[in-house]
Amino acid sequence: MNNAAPVITIDGPSGSGKGTLSQMLARHLGYHLLDSGALYRLVALSAIKKRIDLRQELEVSQIASTLDVVFSLENEKAAQILLDGEEVTSAIRQESVGMGASQVAAYPGVRAALLERQRAFAVAPGLIADGRDMGTTVFPFANTKLFLTASAEARAERRYKQLVSKGESVNIDELIKDISDRDERDSNRAISPLKPASDAIIIDSTAMTIDEVFTRMLSAIK
Ligand code: DC
Repeated sequence: MNNAAPVITIDGPSGSGKGTLSQMLARHLGYHLLDSGALYRLVALSAIKKRIDLRQELEVSQIASTLDVVFSLENEKAAQILLDGEEVTSAIRQESVGMGASQVAAYPGVRAALLERQRAFAVAPGLIADGRDMGTTVFPFANTKLFLTASAEARAERRYKQLVSKGESVNIDELIKDISDRDERDSNRAISPLKPASDAIIIDSTAMTIDEVFTRMLSAIK
């Protein structure tokens, strides 16, 4: 199974900076971007909106296989995400939706339903695929596999600054606990757990700036 276009995978835990760096790399290389976490967040949000209990694996899997999503590029500055025709770009970023995403991401039916949808993003001129299992499951033949990590404390601190700048009131200890809980669930699930592919290049960004990580990633890609 070869990819139709060059694929660079960036996996890692939440808050590692994957999202920002994936966007920077996609822009720099002129590649498409797959934010696979957004798909799991959309499944969770859709279930919440339809008042479906996230513990109902069958019903949630059904939602994943019939998800009506549009990634719209009409607004040039920021991509917009539409769910059933409604704009949900910021709604899917809420902490509660992230926790829900982590919960539904453990269901094999949900992961199977999203697999081909993700692979369809690999078209010319190339793809930056951001997630947890991009290098292990979705694109095992990727050209370059990167795994970006950082300590839970460093990731919580970055998230804290982000939320405070948006005017949200947050508690740093709660954030560290949420991040550790999410790591635990994402890393220990039976199917496609969060782990570096055997051929991935691991980058620990705890003591690095975004620009330093960007340079390191570019040199790994070249
Ligand atoms: O990257 P993110 O925070 O948007 O991801 C939300 C959740 O989705 C994350 O806790 C685990 C899940 N996820 C996954 O299981 N596999 C992926 N490829 C991407 C995300």
